[in-house]
Amino acid sequence: MNKKISASAPGKIIITGEHFVVHGSYAVAAAINKRVRVSISEMKNGESCIVSQNSRSSLKNDDGRFQAARKVAQEVLERYGKIREGGIELEISSDIPPGSGLGSSAAVSVATAGALLKFLGVDPRNEEIYEISMKGETEIHGNPSGIDIQAALLGGMVLFSKGAGAKTISLDRGLQLLVVFSGQSRKTSNLIRKVGVRKKQFPAFFECLTEAASCLSLDAVEASIRGDFLRLGTLMNVAQTSLSWIGVSNPVLDEIVELAASHDALGAKITGAGGGGSVVVLPRPESAAALLKRISKKYPMSFITSIPQEGLKWER
Ligand code: PMV
Repeated sequence: MNKKISASAPGKIIITGEHFVVHGSYAVAAAINKRVRVSISEMKNGESCIVSQNSRSSLKNDDGRFQAARKVAQEVLERYGKIREGGIELEISSDIPPGSGLGSSAAVSVATAGALLKFLGVDPRNEEIYEISMKGETEIHGNPSGIDIQAALLGGMVLFSKGAGAKTISLDRGLQLLVVFSGQSRKTSNLIRKVGVRKKQFPAFFECLTEAASCLSLDAVEASIRGDFLRLGTLMNVAQTSLSWIGVSNPVLDEIVELAASHDALGAKITGAGGGGSVVVLPRPESAAALLKRISKKYPMSFITSIPQEGLKWER
């Protein structure tokens, strides 16, 4: 039988600190129950390729598709040598909507790095998977902080800053969050650029907001550990105010946040780069299912995820 290795990695939500984390603040992310699966199989002959659903693309030649997976695979092959005979087929399947702010490119990068390293007989270390996956993420986002990659790799809830790296947080009680995809996809790199312009216009104020994002994130970790959901929700609402001010919200996202608040949610905010993408809502634990039902009437691509979820794993 031909050799085949599969790995999967989760998407993520950011609970506090997106954008400011690019400029040095702490942020908190968590892996969600939507994953990307990557399988690598041997091909006896033919050119190495990347496939997904009905789409097929050469691994060597950049045709603008599968950029994260291609970059990661090329990096692994550069480090660990060519495939001996024939080629490989790298197959991607995902239940994370692209452009939804749920970390789909990071999950693709981590699952590709993990599966391909293992396929080549390398015992993958987290540090190396992180380093290689960042190449894929940089290809897509230009200037990523690394938080999406760490959440996809480590799973669970992660406190992250560029200076301090990632730390997984163990929770006494798990939590349930509602994720609402606005249906508007967008490019993270454009939003990171837009925020960069804001920073140039208001450097001192931006610096204060970056410090505030760190305070919010450290407090959010404490509140999550203690299971103090009332406090966590309030912190998320404050985070949304900062994100609005730096210009990454829009009328649809504001409407989702207000809809959640009007149905008694504890907190709601953009998750990820904004400008479209998704909103994360902290519902009252007893009314999560009812809130999902109401919000799904207008935003059918909504779902509940429990935290924690597993990070990178190898699959049969
Ligand atoms: O690409 P997204 O929407 O998953 O968001 C990434 C979070 C940012 O802080 C905007 C960018 C980053 O790399 O930290």
